[in-house]
Amino acid sequence: MLIDRIDVMRFLKYDVIILGSGIGGFTTAIHASNFDKKAKIAVISKLHAMRSHSVSAEGGISGVLYPQINKDSEKLHAYDTIKGSDYLSDQDAVELLVKNAPKEIVFFEHLGVPWNRNEKGIIQERPFGGMSVPRTAFAADKTGFFMMRSLYDQVQSLPNVDIFHEHFATRIFRTKDAVGVFTIDLATGKHSVVYGSSLVIGTGGFSRIYKITTTAHSTTGDGIALAYNAGASLKDVEFVQFHPTALVPNGILITEAARGEGGYLLNKDNERFMKRYASSKMELAPRDIISRAIITEINEGRGMKDKDSGLEYVYLDLRHLGKEVINKRLPMIKEICIKTIGLNPEEEPIPVRPAAHFTMGGLNTDINGRVLDIELNHVSNLWGVGECGCVSVHGANRLGSNSLSQCSVWGRIVGKEVSNNTHEIKNEDVKELEVLAEAEDSRLKEMLSKKGMYTVYELQDEMKDVMEKYFYVYRNEKEMKKGVALLEKILKKSANLRIEDKTHIFNTNLRDTLEFLNQIELAYAVGVAAYNRKESRGAHSRTDHPKRDDKAWLKHTILAKEGSGIKISYSDVKITKWEPEERKY
Ligand code: FUM
Repeated sequence: MLIDRIDVMRFLKYDVIILGSGIGGFTTAIHASNFDKKAKIAVISKLHAMRSHSVSAEGGISGVLYPQINKDSEKLHAYDTIKGSDYLSDQDAVELLVKNAPKEIVFFEHLGVPWNRNEKGIIQERPFGGMSVPRTAFAADKTGFFMMRSLYDQVQSLPNVDIFHEHFATRIFRTKDAVGVFTIDLATGKHSVVYGSSLVIGTGGFSRIYKITTTAHSTTGDGIALAYNAGASLKDVEFVQFHPTALVPNGILITEAARGEGGYLLNKDNERFMKRYASSKMELAPRDIISRAIITEINEGRGMKDKDSGLEYVYLDLRHLGKEVINKRLPMIKEICIKTIGLNPEEEPIPVRPAAHFTMGGLNTDINGRVLDIELNHVSNLWGVGECGCVSVHGANRLGSNSLSQCSVWGRIVGKEVSNNTHEIKNEDVKELEVLAEAEDSRLKEMLSKKGMYTVYELQDEMKDVMEKYFYVYRNEKEMKKGVALLEKILKKSANLRIEDKTHIFNTNLRDTLEFLNQIELAYAVGVAAYNRKESRGAHSRTDHPKRDDKAWLKHTILAKEGSGIKISYSDVKITKWEPEERKY
């Protein structure tokens, strides 16, 4: 019965701990389990696992399935990805991605994903932005949902994997040979330390530092921030991807597949304006280029304005695709438009604008997903997978549909890595974990009892306004300087927070506060990295430095914590075959 007391902490030992239950986390769990059937594996999620943001992935997963039919090759996929990244991706990682992506699509086929097929029964691939040929496999416009459902079924069938749903991680502990995660069971408020040999961070990105985003409320970058506080470095966090077509006013994703199926972007004069920005690719140019085009149209007075929200937008027109294409290939887009803004895309064009969508930087990892510190040494027993692990395949601008391939390819790689890392955890490591856990328990109690000046909700709004205003599609020195100073102020204020809910059962006020502390640290890191990169590359577009500068800036930004501040360093980009050239579409 003692275990039911709120003040009794549980210590749970596993071999592999996976924080996050999206496509990256679950894929890692399955492969780790297959490589080592005896390994005890824990998957920890702050949500019910099936609510992980991966379920929202819409358009598809890239991979060269039919080189002959589509006149495609791994080399072409690699070239498109590297050019799309504005030459900031590490080319050895890209080569690994494109080589393994097709096998992973087949792996998901075997797990039960109902890929769309043509009349001959072969998996269909659709065109996506920046890709030279159609190479994106899909399950209507609910690809992420079907992949997650198949993964979840599979993980549940594995006897050596336990899922901890709705357990919020507040700290990562590292001792000489062990790693641990301190968690709050949201349903009861009970604290646990889940510890073991290896920890994989797969908690997704941090787009929710912005006000308008295509991502779920849960995308607060928790795992990235926790690892950053435990000695990991961050890489290229200034590169935030703005998806060109977020629904106005709510920001819900209108998949790029809508343009892949033939949708047009129109300004207020009914003009397909992309002809002035990317005449050969038009609506299927890479996302950074389309987002800039939309904002330029708006800034030059050719956008429209939503009366209630004040948000300016352009149109995404699907009417000419006809009912059959919309209902068969884009059913969820139709449903989203009808249910959330009362607009039927068969009859009216959709109002869209760019919104934060993807974290292209993240935890600095090597090609095997091992997390690195600022000196580029391995952080012991720590891996990053999926959106939160920056293995540098996306560089400064990700091509749509390359992220699901990244999650799947590195899920297997990291699963294998951790299955080889099981080792004995000594008593002295456990003792040290106990001391660290006591300190964390006290920190949380103190937070709950503190009579601070601010609520998380006030400060979170301030942060989101700053990010949206100073670190959006176009940036410049003067504005970013203001933005960084404001973020510093919010950071200081965040030491003075008040949690009004003092209870233990589903204390969302406490959870929101902890999430915000992660968000503000990452927002500040984005601000510092963006301010310091004095060039335009991919999604980091500066009006005061409008050109890419390979001589000075063909390098990754690396950040680490230094006291309450940030230390900044740079590392080389790996070039294997493709020398940087001018990027034209
Ligand atoms: O537009 C989309 O369906 C998004 C895909 C992606 O971000 O990869």
